[in-house]
Amino acid sequence: MLAQIKALADSLAPRLVKIRRHLHSHPELSGQEHQTAAYVAGVLSSCGLQVKEGVGKVGVVGELHGKGADPRLLAIRTDMDALPIREQTKLAFASQHPGVMHACGHDVHTTVGLGTAMVLSQLGQALPGDVRFLFQSAEEIAQGAMWMVQDGVMVNVTGILSVHVFPSIPAGVVGIRYGALTAAADDLEITILGESGHGARPHEAIDAIWIASQIITTLQQAISRTQNPLRPVVLTIGQINGGRAPNVIADQVQLLGTVRSLHPETSAALPTWIEQIVANLCQTYGARYELNYRRGTPSVQNDKGMTQLLESSARAAWGAQGVQLIHEPSLGAEDFSVYLQHAPGSMFRLGVGFKDQHNYPLHHPQFEVDETAILTGVVTLAYAACQYWQH
Ligand code: NI
Repeated sequence: MLAQIKALADSLAPRLVKIRRHLHSHPELSGQEHQTAAYVAGVLSSCGLQVKEGVGKVGVVGELHGKGADPRLLAIRTDMDALPIREQTKLAFASQHPGVMHACGHDVHTTVGLGTAMVLSQLGQALPGDVRFLFQSAEEIAQGAMWMVQDGVMVNVTGILSVHVFPSIPAGVVGIRYGALTAAADDLEITILGESGHGARPHEAIDAIWIASQIITTLQQAISRTQNPLRPVVLTIGQINGGRAPNVIADQVQLLGTVRSLHPETSAALPTWIEQIVANLCQTYGARYELNYRRGTPSVQNDKGMTQLLESSARAAWGAQGVQLIHEPSLGAEDFSVYLQHAPGSMFRLGVGFKDQHNYPLHHPQFEVDETAILTGVVTLAYAACQYWQH
């Protein structure tokens, strides 16, 4: 089976590079991936999959039927959107859409998803079960997965796999992570309501700017003294609005921030913990407050069984030197976690780094990938898919 998959992927490699370059030169922003989606739907249809467009707004779903005796349904998810970045590579196939760039490798993800569909569709009756391919829109704004799930793509799905490129892992190597892969990312908005007054007469006013500064300082100190240091919390206030004049005490200050955490229990407790600190400080100094804690993307928690499936498939395909166990999670966010609320799954990191040249990070205007990684991604996913029903 593995030899057959490798041979199929090898024969498809030139076409896959062409597909990736086409996608790279025609990037589209989150929620606007209409051309990309139509292109994806065309390729999937040509492979004989049942295709549905306009799922999760701009997403595409392709159903591939295997032997069908086993009721378990595997989903394979990739994302299609690009970023509002002006590309600064010198590639012949650089972005033709000014100010838009595939700087997070979603062009590679889409290509790997299509390549996997091509390979598995050619296996015919050798494919033991049914696979549902999900090509979502709008990952970068953390909306696409939610739209897909709302449109029912996870109905009957019993396991899900996904992939993200990673430039600090060399091409040809697959990064495997057990447990938390990315952080939960929530939005925080606090408004302090004090009372205005003359800058010279603080006792007649309630200084919202000073109270806001106390809140920021206390929150940062409280993380280090009350949160388990082995369960990280990062709280960043990135924006402050308030005040009218240098000699007028501010009656209102708005604090806007992001809150990142890795452990579900920590994440669950954060809104109450933050509100207590804000409420206590405001009460002490006579201010009122409004607090809006908006849940964003949950943490990606890779399932043990599904991660073992990826690891054993990657080891079989590439040997020990082709697999890297990732020991630390990232505090970035990834909306693959939304699917994981509905079925166990795992996302692997696909090494795309060049061995002999500088590798720019994701979201950098000079980000490039070693395209040989496409084959690594396709074989890993296709073989893991075939092993899913045996696992
Ligand atoms: Ni990404």
